[in-house]
Amino acid sequence: SNSALWGARFEGGPADALAALSKSTQFDWRLAPHDIAGSRAHATVLHRAGLLTDEELADMLAGLDRLAADVESGAFGPAPADEDVHTALERGLIERVGPDLGGKLRAGRSRNDQIATLLRMYLRESARTVGGLVLDLVDALVGQASAHLDAAMPGRTHLQHAQPVLLSHHLLAHAWALLRDVDRLRDWDRRTDVSPYGSGALAGSSLGLDPSFVASYLGFSAAAENSIDATASRDFAAEAAFVLAMIGVDVSRIAEEVILWATKEFSFVILDDAWSTGSSIMPQKKNPDIAELARGKAGRLVGNLTGLMMTLKALPLAYNRDLQEDKEPVFDSLDTLHVLLPAFTGMVATLRFQTERLEELAPQGFSLATDIAEWLVRQGVPFRSAHEVAGACVRLCESRGIELWDLTDDDLASVSPALTPAVRSVLSVPGALASRSAKGGTAPDRVREQLDAVRAAVAAG
Ligand code: ARG
Repeated sequence: SNSALWGARFEGGPADALAALSKSTQFDWRLAPHDIAGSRAHATVLHRAGLLTDEELADMLAGLDRLAADVESGAFGPAPADEDVHTALERGLIERVGPDLGGKLRAGRSRNDQIATLLRMYLRESARTVGGLVLDLVDALVGQASAHLDAAMPGRTHLQHAQPVLLSHHLLAHAWALLRDVDRLRDWDRRTDVSPYGSGALAGSSLGLDPSFVASYLGFSAAAENSIDATASRDFAAEAAFVLAMIGVDVSRIAEEVILWATKEFSFVILDDAWSTGSSIMPQKKNPDIAELARGKAGRLVGNLTGLMMTLKALPLAYNRDLQEDKEPVFDSLDTLHVLLPAFTGMVATLRFQTERLEELAPQGFSLATDIAEWLVRQGVPFRSAHEVAGACVRLCESRGIELWDLTDDDLASVSPALTPAVRSVLSVPGALASRSAKGGTAPDRVREQLDAVRAAVAAG
């Protein structure tokens, strides 16, 4: 016999190498408070089903309270022989209330319904914290957008100058993506708000225990409809891993821009000293390490999602031990974002934008060519011809090494009789910006409304 929860039918204890492989306390111990909460709920339904007396329930709950306090203070922790968090805590309870009472708690539950419940509880709590950290980053973007509401910058497609946009419009584009991630967490939480407790190993419980009571005791809205699904499904963990990976990917897109913007060639931003790093050999260096780590960690977050999906692929019902592999990827994703997001937010909040340079570059690279074409359309020229005329202007400028606004009246007329000097009215950045005034556009008035909408979404949390 051995100290495991399942020793009786075995002649001896597990081989050391098996125990070493099987062991999960090094990563599942963080679920201990939730395991104890589950035990309180379970003791209470055992009592309601007449399987514990009033006195036994009181002693059990008092023992669980002492255990919880000892776990919190560190006085109690997993021993080398404990297979997992559940095994360790059963040992802890028995040490506190004795084997007769302590041995009653396991009736009608399995580690399979326990772990599925605890993981949901833990992920829901941690995801709320991550959601708050994402909103802090959105706040930092809002701060920068409102500090630079009217500064223009070169908007890009294919990384080439495309059309002038407001810097605030560009920053808020990142904010919207992050707000959708927070919304995804909220939506995921609603789906994850179902308790597997009471499903037992896979078939449900036979002892007259009420899963709905346990569900509401533990703060879930409902108990699971199907005990097999409840113990075998981990799509809630995979979906969490996806949303966390999506956050990492969205952050990495900001990161890549900051890295480019901080180069000598771009010189769009200066990183704050407290949020950048130096080089051990090159005294002049100031490196965007936070942004680079963010870019790198996005790969790690996607890897966690991919690994978990591979664990789940083709797994037959119901519980299989493979499912123990569900925890490390999601824990790592949560831990990664807990460390990354505050640093990233600090970096974004302290970026110093070089708005003079941004403004100067905004109209360069013929980024107002579309405005010439659209001006011609307003004069009744078909867009196909207008596009050609504007393109011919660009070609002429390129051959002479000048910008569109340097073309003389004669130059314009030589390209097309439709190009009267009045076209110059649209060859300005403020004009180009103001003209994009439909909903969602970069016109200053629209961006002010947008900023209010983002602020409202952050406040709604
Ligand atoms: N430690 C396991 C897990 O994380 C739960 C225990 C289930 N073990 C078992 N042999 N049924 O999935």
